[in-house]
Amino acid sequence: MTTTNIWRVKKADDNRLREELAQAACQLKDGGVIAFPTETVYGLGADARNTAAVERIFTAKGRPSDNPLIVHIAQREQLNELVLPYPQLAADLMDHFWPGPLTIVLPVRPGVLSPLVTAGLSTVGIRMPDHPTALALLVQAGCPVAAPSANRSGRPSPTLAEHVLEDLDGRIDGVVDDGPTGVGLESTVIELVGDKDIRILRPGGITLEALQQAAPAAEIDSGITEEPETAPRSPGMKYTHYAPQGELELVQGDSEAVVAYIQAQVTAARARGEITGVLAFEERLGRYESDTVLSLGSELELDAAAHLLYAALREFDGAGAQRIWAECCSIHGIGAALMNRLAKAAGNRIIFV
Ligand code: TXA
Ligand code: MG
Repeated sequence: MTTTNIWRVKKADDNRLREELAQAACQLKDGGVIAFPTETVYGLGADARNTAAVERIFTAKGRPSDNPLIVHIAQREQLNELVLPYPQLAADLMDHFWPGPLTIVLPVRPGVLSPLVTAGLSTVGIRMPDHPTALALLVQAGCPVAAPSANRSGRPSPTLAEHVLEDLDGRIDGVVDDGPTGVGLESTVIELVGDKDIRILRPGGITLEALQQAAPAAEIDSGITEEPETAPRSPGMKYTHYAPQGELELVQGDSEAVVAYIQAQVTAARARGEITGVLAFEERLGRYESDTVLSLGSELELDAAAHLLYAALREFDGAGAQRIWAECCSIHGIGAALMNRLAKAAGNRIIFV
């Protein structure tokens, strides 16, 4: 058991923030594992050059070691130390989207990062988080910080410090608590195809439509939606992530048919004595009668839905839901990331009605 410190950030001025983060930054620099907020989800950080420290991330999370970690930086100047020369398109994307929820896979400079960070690949995913507390912590620690989401492997990513503690209390050195994260889903991960194109390996806060402004042929990797025949391009794609403890099924189709199908399933499950859950949009929330009914807000405001998703999945666990049904949403904009996470949480069980 490790004692997990909690540092609550009170959002005063920059000097005050530096003081509040001093101990966390110090521990990070000295090989500790510290959870911190970003604009996407809470990350579990360690010095990306320190193998013993990075190893503790994998142990705390119970994460498979062939799944590489994203490296977080606070300043563009840190890049040259970490990666080999990259195409102009990557620099343009950084100009446009950093700081922000875009992870760019770049050729790694050999010998700098712990091999555990890259999981033996010749590339590394890098991002600059758009969060004042995260940036201040990274600057103060003065090292590149490897940080996966701060959850136990297979659990929904944390959007509150309380979620981090639920999963990792006693397993990590500390958590910087700065309230709820912004986007609520992890960053978009992309790789470049040649010098001019972009392939999305994981949809996220920076949408396909936004990336197509920079590279019109940008597309979502087919491996995300289809069963991979070869090794997936992003190792994280092969794991069932974000799974709630109950069995989740997504239901897609005409909204009246969706309501009828879900309610019939819920009624039948309850008759069998099962504890049920429904995840629905505000527009139809009142139509369901189930042990738990949780709202993702309006289906016309998917940014807000993205923000609510992981907390809702955790709430079903808390309620002991054994069978859960969820409505689907549009795959435009942030909807692509939302449906991607829902499909993963459901182990790809999608019913068309
Ligand atoms: O928003 C986020 O990205 C959060 C916060 C904490 O920054 N971090 C996060 O990290 O989601 P993680 O480790 O849970 O997800 C990393 C994803 C995985 O799907 C992994 O396979 C992919 O990025 N990835 C990392 N390095 C890669 C590489 N070199 N090539 C391809 N995919 C890579
Ligand atoms: Mg994760």
